[in-house]
Amino acid sequence: MSRITVENVTRRYGDVRAVDGVSLDVAHGDFLVLLGPSGCGKSTLLRMIAGLVSPSDGRVLVDGNDVTEAPARDRDLAMVFQSYALYPHLTVERNIGFPLRARKQRKADIRRRVAEVADILDLGALLDRRPRALSGGQRQRVALGRALVRDPGAFLMDEPLSNLDAQLRTATRTEITELHRRLGRTFVYVTHDQVEAMTMATSVAVLNRGRLEQLGTPTEVYDTPASAFVAGFLGSPPMNLLDAEIVSRDGRLHAVAEGVDVPLGLDHPSHEGEQVRRPAILGVRPEHLSLRPAADAGPAPEAGGVPNGSAPNGSAPNGGAPNGGAPAATLRGSVRSIENLGSEEIAHCRVGAAEVAVRARRPAGFTVGEAVVLTVRPEHTHLFDRESGRRLVWQPDRDPQVPAARVPVAT
Ligand SMILES: Nc1ncnc2c1ncn2[C@@H]1O[C@H](COP(=O)(O)OP(=O)(O)OP(=O)(O)O)[C@@H](O)[C@H]1O
Ligand SMILES: [Mg+2]
Repeated sequence: MSRITVENVTRRYGDVRAVDGVSLDVAHGDFLVLLGPSGCGKSTLLRMIAGLVSPSDGRVLVDGNDVTEAPARDRDLAMVFQSYALYPHLTVERNIGFPLRARKQRKADIRRRVAEVADILDLGALLDRRPRALSGGQRQRVALGRALVRDPGAFLMDEPLSNLDAQLRTATRTEITELHRRLGRTFVYVTHDQVEAMTMATSVAVLNRGRLEQLGTPTEVYDTPASAFVAGFLGSPPMNLLDAEIVSRDGRLHAVAEGVDVPLGLDHPSHEGEQVRRPAILGVRPEHLSLRPAADAGPAPEAGGVPNGSAPNGSAPNGGAPNGGAPAATLRGSVRSIENLGSEEIAHCRVGAAEVAVRARRPAGFTVGEAVVLTVRPEHTHLFDRESGRRLVWQPDRDPQVPAARVPVAT
C-alpha cells in the first residue's frame, strides 16, 4: 500500500518559492504525473515526497503516517532519476542487485530477485555486461530494475526518459505504463512532456511557478483546463488564447474581439446598445476550428445549438449554456503561414492582433495571405478571467447573467 498525501507543502530557497503551498492526494495504485515547464518545482516536490529535500512548511504523509521528518530510506519509496546513475564498474546484475546487497539480504535471494526483475524488463541476456556496453534504453531499464528490485510501495520517477531518442522514449513509455498496470503500485512521475502526461497518467498535476494550477485526469486537464496557463501548456499547438470582451447584445451575451464573435448562448436582459460586461480571454483549440475562404463565407451558419446543461457543475458559458441554439462562432482573418506535419497541416492565421493556429487535414488548399473565416462550435470555446487567468464558469447563483471566475484550484 502506498497512498501519498502532500499537505500545503512549501519549499523556499532564499526568496524563491520553488514549491508554494501544494496539496495533493495520490491514491494507492494511481499514476500521478507532475507536469509543468522548466523551473516550476516538479523535481523539488518529488524530492520532498522522497525525503531528499525537506519542506519549509507543510506535511508529507505515506499511508496516513507523517513522514515529513523521516529519512528517505524509511519511506518505502524507490526513486528513478533522469541520469541513470549506474555504477560503471558493476555488471547489470550487480547494478540491479545493489539495493538488496546494501540491505544485506541473502545472496541466493538477491540472485532470484534480480532474475525476476531482469525477466520483467527483458534484461536477462545482458546481466553480465557493464553499463558502457549498453544502449541508452537498456541503461534506462537497468535503472528501473534497480528501483523495482526492492518492491517498494511507490515509485518516484524524475524525467526518466529524457535522455532517450524519440523512438526509445515511446517504447519505454509503453513499458512503464505496462509495469504500472502489472505491479499495481503507486507511481509519481515528473515530466515536462505533455504527451507522456496524457498517455501514462491516471491523474495529472499541472504546476506553474511552484503552484498547483490544476489536478485532474488527462481528459479533464485537456478538455476543461482550469486556467489559461493549463490551456496554453497542453496541446500541440496549444490552445489559442485571445483577449476578448464579454458583451451584451440584443439580450444575449457574446465574446467579441477584433474579427471575433462568439455567441455564448446566454440570455441577458436587454439594455440599450452593446454593453461590456467583463474582459476575458477566449480559448479555442486548433482542432476545433474549421477554415473556409472568406469569399464563400456568407452569413454565419447555425451550428447545431449548445447542449443544455450538459457540462458538469453547470460549468461554462461555453459548455453548459442554458438557452441553446447559438449560432456558430466566427473568427475572421488571413493565413500567415502553413506548416506541413505530414498527416495534417497547421494554418497559422492572423485574427485582429492575435495569431490563431488551425489544425486541418492535408491538403487544406489555402494559400498564404488568403482571407479566411474560422468557425467553431460555441461549446468548444473556453473563457478565462483576464486578471487571474482562472476559467470562467456560469454560476447562476452568484451573478445570474455573467460568467464568473471559478476560484478553487482543483476542478
Ligand atoms: N538547491 C537549490 N537552491 C536554490 N534554488 C533551487 C534549488 N533547487 C531548485 N531551486 C529553484 O527552485 C525552482 C524549482 O526547481 P525544480 O528543480 O524543482 O524545477 P523543475 O520543475 O524540476 O525544472 P526542470 O524541468 O528544469 O527540471 C527553480 O527556480 C530552481 O532554480
Ligand atoms: Mg526537474
